[in-house]
Formats: sequence, C-alpha cells, structure tokens
Amino acid sequence: MTEIDLKRLPKHIAIIMDGNGRWAERHAMGRILGHKNGAESVRAAVRTCRRIGIRYLTLYAFSMENWLRPEAEVSALLNLLKEYLENEVQEMMDQDIRLVAIGNLDSLGEPILSKINEVSARTSRNRGMTVILALSYGGRDEIAAAARRMVGDCLAGKITPEKVTKELFADYLYTAGLPDPDLLIRTGGEYRISNFLLWQMAYTEFYFTEVLWPDFRERHLLKAVEDYQKRERRFGRTSEQLKT
Ligand code: IPE
Ligand code: IPE
Ligand code: MG
Repeated sequence: MTEIDLKRLPKHIAIIMDGNGRWAERHAMGRILGHKNGAESVRAAVRTCRRIGIRYLTLYAFSMENWLRPEAEVSALLNLLKEYLENEVQEMMDQDIRLVAIGNLDSLGEPILSKINEVSARTSRNRGMTVILALSYGGRDEIAAAARRMVGDCLAGKITPEKVTKELFADYLYTAGLPDPDLLIRTGGEYRISNFLLWQMAYTEFYFTEVLWPDFRERHLLKAVEDYQKRERRFGRTSEQLKT
C-alpha cells in the first residue's frame, strides 16, 4: 500500500503524458487509439489529485513541436481535446475544478479555441483544484512571447528596464499567478523535458517512470507522490540549515 502524508503534499504536480504511441503499438493498434486510451488516464489523474487534495495539476497535452506530426494525428489529438472538454465540464463543476489553458492558444483555431474559452469561463470561480492544460505549448516560445510583451511595455513607457526582476518577468508568462510545480512526472520512459515549463521548473523535483501514459493510474500517481515525500528540498541550503 502506498503511504502518503496528506499534510506534505506537493501543491502543484505537472505531468508530461508520454507513451501513447508505444502503448498503441504494443496493443497492435494505431497511434490515435493510443491517444484515445490516454484520455482515461487524464480523467484518473484529475480525480486522484482532487481526491487527495492537490491544488494545481498541469498536464502537457500538446507541445509546439507536436505540430510537426502527421496531419491526421494532429487533428485527431485536437478532436480528442475538444471531446474531453465537452465530456468533462460537468464533472469539473461538480468537483469544483477550475480549468486554465496555457500555450499559443490562438494557433489551435476554431472551434477548439471557443470551447477552451467557454470551459475556462464556466469554471473560473471554482476553487477546489486548478487543472492547467498546456496546449500548443513550448517553454522557449513562452519565454520569447513574455520578453516580446515586456519589451513592448518598456517601449510604451509602462515599465523601465531597472524594474525588470525575475518576479516581474514571471508575470508576463502564461503561468502568471500560478505557483511553480513542486513535482514533475514524466511517463513513457524518456528522460527529458521536451520544452515544458522551462522557467517554472527551476526547483521542481523530477520523477520518471517507464509506465506508458494509457496505463498510468491512481496507484502510479500515489507512488510518485510517495517518492517526492522522501526527498529533501534544499533550495541551495545545507541539510543542517533545514533542520534548525
Ligand atoms: C504522448 O504520447 C502524447 C502526445 C505527445 C500528444 P506520444 O504520442 O508521444 O507517444 P510515444 O512517445 O510515441 O509513445
Ligand atoms: C512531450 O512528448 C509532449 C507531450 C506529452 C504533449 P513528446 O513525445 O512530444 O516528446 P519528445 O518529442 O519525445 O521529446
Ligand atoms: Mg512521445
């Protein structure tokens, strides 16, 4: 049985949901069916996080680089996303879950964009948990977009270069106002960040598992949290300093 301490939970968990394609291959199915089965794992992760009391859950659903995939796979992924939003909005209301989307959302086009706006607006006053969907998201793109807007504000005289601090810069990111992830989980056995939350993960704890995303269930998530709770987050200090 997994033993987790409910008083020392990560406030924010981020997940790179990887391995749908390989899962499909193993089950002699097309990649798209892998993504379809992955949707069930998304539901399970949201439910589990809500149940144990995680405040923020960020899910990497579609990267900037994923646009390079075959067109049929891209449109299948976007369709699944739309279906997911349609099917889950009631559950989000029942569970007091707020939905936030981050990324280059305009590039998703209609009708996805309106669906995202509709669900975000409808759930905006929910406070039980925040689910952040990273869509058409790239960490470097986010940083460049933030720099672009900040320079614009400088030129418009709204801020001066001396005012630029890491806190001010963070306010220009898609994640303005959201806490940094405490724990990153990546399924599917790859050991890389793939352009996810580069700025925000400066001090995040990383957890990698071979489990493919469509197989990832509550017990796997609880195991990741248990592992996280065994770690000492020193933030540059010494172990002794933390004890006093
Ligand atoms: C993750 O699974 C889903 C997305 C990237 C959208 P993959 O489709 O990357 O699965 P693998 O890595 O090919 O197995
Ligand atoms: C990362 O997975 C993106 C998402 C999970 C949405 P990828 O499968 O696209 O990552 P790489 O290309 O293997 O690094
Ligand atoms: Mg992959």
